[in-house]
Amino acid sequence: MEKLNIESRRKIDEIVLKHKDKMGPVKLMLHDVQSELGYIPFEAMEKIAEACNVSVAEVYGVVTFYTQFTTEPKGKCVINVCMGTACYVKGAQELINHIMDLTHAPINGTSEDGLFSLDATRCLGACGLAPVVIIDDKVYGNANESNVVEDIITKIIQSERRH
Ligand code: FES
Repeated sequence: MEKLNIESRRKIDEIVLKHKDKMGPVKLMLHDVQSELGYIPFEAMEKIAEACNVSVAEVYGVVTFYTQFTTEPKGKCVINVCMGTACYVKGAQELINHIMDLTHAPINGTSEDGLFSLDATRCLGACGLAPVVIIDDKVYGNANESNVVEDIITKIIQSERRH
């Protein structure tokens, strides 16, 4: 298991302290750890379990139940492609194939350069906009290879290469 740096540990401690006495603290803490560190390290689950007086297995159960949480570090840019029925019939499979080619990220994994994570998700509840893609929390409806893949993802790749 990887060792967390001091900064990450400090952040986890702050988050645990902030939510300790609130209602439903486990999910609040996990949410903040995910957004601060980009994933939920095992050490965070241990600290959360201790502070909330529950077992690590219970915390782990919450982490694996919600797709928003991940135990692996995510790429700099996170792409979610809805693979629910409405999106699927409107071409989500072709879209995700194209995104994989462009980003070199496998489905539910991260590209080797750490730039992109690509997740296939269940229905996002916006079927009227199918197919739906979320890039860094921004929702794109009626997504297709030109408006999402070419316009947005290509721009991200180009701007990263400039840095
Ligand atoms: S199936 Fe994609 S938003 Fe519902």
